[in-house]
Amino acid sequence: MARWGCSPCLRRRRLLLQVLQALTALAALVALGAAGGAAPRCHHTHAYGMLAADCHDVQLRDVPQALRSDVKALDLTMNRIREVPAGAFARYASLELLYLDDNAVAVIEDGALDPLSRLRVLSLALNSIVEVPRSLLRLPSLQRLVLSRNPLAPESLAAALAAAPEDGPLQVLALAGCRLRALPPLQRLPRLRELNVSGNPLDKVSAAQLAPLCSLRVAALGDAHATLDFCDCVLLREWSERDGLQLHPPQALDCAGRHGETAGAARCANSSAAREAQALRAQCGRTLQAQERDEQRRRLWAWVGAGAGAVAAALALLALCCWCCRRRRARRASPARTPARSRKNCDEDEEDFAPMTKKYTK
Ligand SMILES: *[C@@H]1O[C@H](CO)[C@@H](O)[C@H](O)[C@H]1NC(C)=O
Ligand SMILES: *[C@@H]1O[C@H](CO)[C@@H](O)[C@H](O)[C@H]1NC(C)=O
Repeated sequence: MARWGCSPCLRRRRLLLQVLQALTALAALVALGAAGGAAPRCHHTHAYGMLAADCHDVQLRDVPQALRSDVKALDLTMNRIREVPAGAFARYASLELLYLDDNAVAVIEDGALDPLSRLRVLSLALNSIVEVPRSLLRLPSLQRLVLSRNPLAPESLAAALAAAPEDGPLQVLALAGCRLRALPPLQRLPRLRELNVSGNPLDKVSAAQLAPLCSLRVAALGDAHATLDFCDCVLLREWSERDGLQLHPPQALDCAGRHGETAGAARCANSSAAREAQALRAQCGRTLQAQERDEQRRRLWAWVGAGAGAVAAALALLALCCWCCRRRRARRASPARTPARSRKNCDEDEEDFAPMTKKYTK
């Protein structure tokens, strides 16, 4: 009796508990929304036909974590982001365009950008980056990288460039105003089309340094063009006429009056420096051709593989049809005899295998 009597109060207590639980869950949700408070300051839009998040100039101190994770373009320019920690972009693997210009970024932790395997454009101009992340040039889709106006450490930049895969997709590299005194090593960028190193106090620029860039079409050298020797200038002019290389400023191709002019343009063409530069350029051309051949071969094999798969599937289907037809015909011809015959076959098989079995069980 007592048990029955207490049942309603028990039920009421349970109900109260459930209401309390629901309330706490709601409170937690509200708190979460407030913590991800960055999101309301950003807004989602469509730009260039893709989902974009516009977080430009909204006083962010961190990369916001409450945006849609399928966002493809993210504008974080003009904020106060100082640090990009390792997990900052883990949620945004779909990003193709990322603009982080004009922040206070001083540290990009190792691996922070690694999840961005689809990133095509990364703009980090006007920050305080000293150490270039080692894996930056290994981003597999990166075509345009802007690091202009950062106090880059030359060794760190060189290390990142040395780690670039030779068949990487990088086409545009902007290093304007990075306090560089020498051009970084650019041997591993055979596809680079645009290089901007203006506004750097470069001690010397030579044709040999640009020679490994056989796809280069635009090179902004800034004041450093004045350090080109006569013969280097003649060589660059040749590439400009033959391959369409544009130099900025255009005075870079005014060769008269430069250091070493006494050599004469004809003798320049046969100097050891010129031959070395031409050799580097030819090497780059061969690398590109080899990559193209590999790519064609890969495509061909993919086709062959797909074709072979289709043929095998068709043959398998045909064999299955034949087998079915034959079985049906056999059944129709003598429905009773078939099992007996197959039984006999099995016995024969057993006899055939008997000596072998004996041999192996000994
Ligand atoms: C190179 O970069 C500087 C600084 O960002 C810019 O003003 C200039 O227009 C760029 N030059 C070219 C040819 O893109
Ligand atoms: C170029 O230089 C090499 C040796 O340095 C010489 O044998 C050759 O005749 C020169 N060619 C021309 C066209 O001057």
